[in-house]
Amino acid sequence: MIYQIAYWSKASYPMSLMALDKLVEESEKNNRQKQITGLLLYGDNTFFQFLEGDYRTIESLYDKITQDERHYRATRIGQWCVNSRIFSQWSMGFIKLPSPNQTEKFTQYQRWGSQQFLEAPLEIRRLLLHYADLAFIEELKTRTI
Ligand SMILES: Cc1cc2nc3c(=O)[nH]c(=O)nc-3n(C[C@H](O)[C@H](O)[C@H](O)COP(=O)(O)O)c2cc1C
Repeated sequence: MIYQIAYWSKASYPMSLMALDKLVEESEKNNRQKQITGLLLYGDNTFFQFLEGDYRTIESLYDKITQDERHYRATRIGQWCVNSRIFSQWSMGFIKLPSPNQTEKFTQYQRWGSQQFLEAPLEIRRLLLHYADLAFIEELKTRTI
């Protein structure tokens, strides 16, 4: 069984591209070692992260992440047990949301209370798959350059 969690949080300060790069790089490295996969979105000074892997590994990483001073008010959206990973190829896929259009979709979910999120795992899945598509497109772009 694969354990998944999702949360959102506010960045403590506007993250520069360099700061984001550093964060993603260290996360990728750690996650690869721990067989954790997932996706990190950043836009409007807000993070949204989805993590999947072994239950204990994910819970202890989440504990560590919530203590990170680069963000605050980490709010868990939900957790699920599933048969297979969504982001099997991504130790930490990352997308910086550039256009207001994409950010709008993201903030729309962020405004929901956690209860609403818990009641709507399908919606979360749609959101993640939407971004999984984008991540895939981003990867294709870097491959062709
Ligand atoms: C929004 C956000 C997401 C993070 N995601 C991860 C992650 O997926 N994996 C990870 O190892 N660290 C992540 N971190 C960083 C951890 O908080 C921590 O700095 C990192 O695991 C290094 O810890 P260490 O020095 O004990 O190895 C994240 C930090 C923030 C602010």
